[in-house]
Amino acid sequence: MHKNDLIQQLSLQSHPEGGYYSEIYRSGMMIETDRVGQQRSAMTSIYYLLTDDSPIDYFHINKSDIMHYFHLGSPVTYFLIPPDGTLQKCKLGLDLTKGEVPQLLVPGGYWKAAVLEEGEFGLLGEGVAPGFDFRDMKLGKDEDFRQQFPHIWDQLVPYIKSGY
Ligand code: GUN
Repeated sequence: MHKNDLIQQLSLQSHPEGGYYSEIYRSGMMIETDRVGQQRSAMTSIYYLLTDDSPIDYFHINKSDIMHYFHLGSPVTYFLIPPDGTLQKCKLGLDLTKGEVPQLLVPGGYWKAAVLEEGEFGLLGEGVAPGFDFRDMKLGKDEDFRQQFPHIWDQLVPYIKSGY
């Protein structure tokens, strides 16, 4: 299976965060949520693909919790910054002997970036609850990150979408 077959067969399109995605489920149940403060779908689910020509999921933050599932291909490295400003690293994949995890929860309010460091592609799934809405998502900006995280800036800069 090649990346272009996946993009075609799963109807993936470019994501503004980097990589490719396709929303495959959006719950018809609308819920009121404290975290978001407005009505949202109870849950959404996407396929998400990083490839060797679009290997970075740039830093962004979401109000919802997001469950990440490894499906196919090469493992994907995540960089997470919880509200306390520490930097956590974690690899989503199936090689448990190397400490990879098949599922990864990223709570709402965490900054998140991901990178495909090897291989042609990594295919993942993401379940978002309350469901994804562009109003709940923000991409990281150069100058904000420099001010907020001066102690880890040099490690973060490759994963900040430039000119955004
Ligand atoms: N539409 C655009 N981006 C996303 C995403 O990350 N998740 C879902 N469910 N839909 C999207």
